[in-house]
Amino acid sequence: MLNPRFQHLPAHTWTQLRTLLDGLPAGRNQPLDLTIGEPRHPMPAFITDVLEANRDGYAKYPPIQGTPDWQRAVAGWLERRYGLSGIEPDRHVLPVSGTREGLFGVAFVAVPEVKAGQRPLVLMPNPFYQCYAAAALAAGADPVYLPATAETGFLPAFAGLDEAILSRAALIYLCTPANPQGTVADQAYFDALIPLCRRHDITLVVDECYGEIYTGAPPTGALEACRSLAERGLGDRAAPYANVLSFQSLSKRSNVPGLRSGFVAGDPRLIAAYRELRSYGGAPSPLPVYAAAAAAWSDEAHVEENRGLYRAKFDAAERILDGRFGAYRPGGGFYLWLDVGDGESAARTLWSRAGVRVLPGAYLSRPDGSGYNPGAAYVRVALVNSLEVTELALQSIRDTLGDEAGT
Ligand SMILES: Cc1ncc(COP(=O)(O)O)c(C=O)c1O
Repeated sequence: MLNPRFQHLPAHTWTQLRTLLDGLPAGRNQPLDLTIGEPRHPMPAFITDVLEANRDGYAKYPPIQGTPDWQRAVAGWLERRYGLSGIEPDRHVLPVSGTREGLFGVAFVAVPEVKAGQRPLVLMPNPFYQCYAAAALAAGADPVYLPATAETGFLPAFAGLDEAILSRAALIYLCTPANPQGTVADQAYFDALIPLCRRHDITLVVDECYGEIYTGAPPTGALEACRSLAERGLGDRAAPYANVLSFQSLSKRSNVPGLRSGFVAGDPRLIAAYRELRSYGGAPSPLPVYAAAAAAWSDEAHVEENRGLYRAKFDAAERILDGRFGAYRPGGGFYLWLDVGDGESAARTLWSRAGVRVLPGAYLSRPDGSGYNPGAAYVRVALVNSLEVTELALQSIRDTLGDEAGT
């Protein structure tokens, strides 16, 4: 009696990786793992202190909309980071227990049973964060994978999409900075996409969980883009965030992936509906977590320090790889997206010869109708370890794969 909606969902990324590498001896006593996007920089000490000081809060059921302190901290951060004004937490913001569950659950709110007389569609980039596809299926929609390749500037291209697709589309997932490519959607990209979503009554869900990890200019945020559109008379000033939701997380920003704390902000109509649904089936964060999150969103020093650590690793990548495998410094995030010719073969070679574990790009993407998988040539390399480990791993990648990548 399993739900047939999920029967075509492929094995999850990590299951596929284990199938590829388990049983293959590692070519190093202490293997170097660069697969998972789990920050390994130290968690800020003040977060532990706040959790400890608020431990009595575990004795209470926490509120679904967050505490007043949490709400103030988040609204303040949104206004500072994106130059917004007038954020009303009760209307514009909702906490989620990590963005993964939030990104998944939002599909139940944003996807109707039928759109344009047919089964609705959920559009997403390809490659993509795997949660989006499962969410689309869970909500009873058909996922549509839009290539986000070198040819499209590593972001999905919406211009030129068929009217038949757009009218059936209920939800679009966009990730900026993108996982895995690190591409950042700029104002011009949003200028085209947001009005398109409004014209076709599509909810635009923007996953910005890497938005605080960047090496140059801070990535434009979806809500910042909405505000700019409204100010230029290209959106309704009374409803500047219509159709748009931005997901933000502390996991990468503050090195606390285990805290499970993030939020969604944007269109009050969607926030109200999602809040109501979460009142039935959501798991709000414990009170000590809200307190720690409030402290984290109120502090920038640890985030700046964190960015510095990633910057040093991208500097090392530039030096060590020197453009091999098409290596580039992304606009944001902490991944290298390396064109090694055949990602699975390269991952096996790296593991068996050098004990370096990387993720084949094919496990983050889906083949198109002709069987072409836009991630197949790539491996994703997460720069989450210390500088020393990262340098060692990158040297191994360079020396093991050489110029004849993936052979
Ligand atoms: C693109 C993307 N979105 C969302 C998440 C989920 O982050 P969290 O649930 O820790 O907020 C991740 C985690 O790696 C991610 O890579």
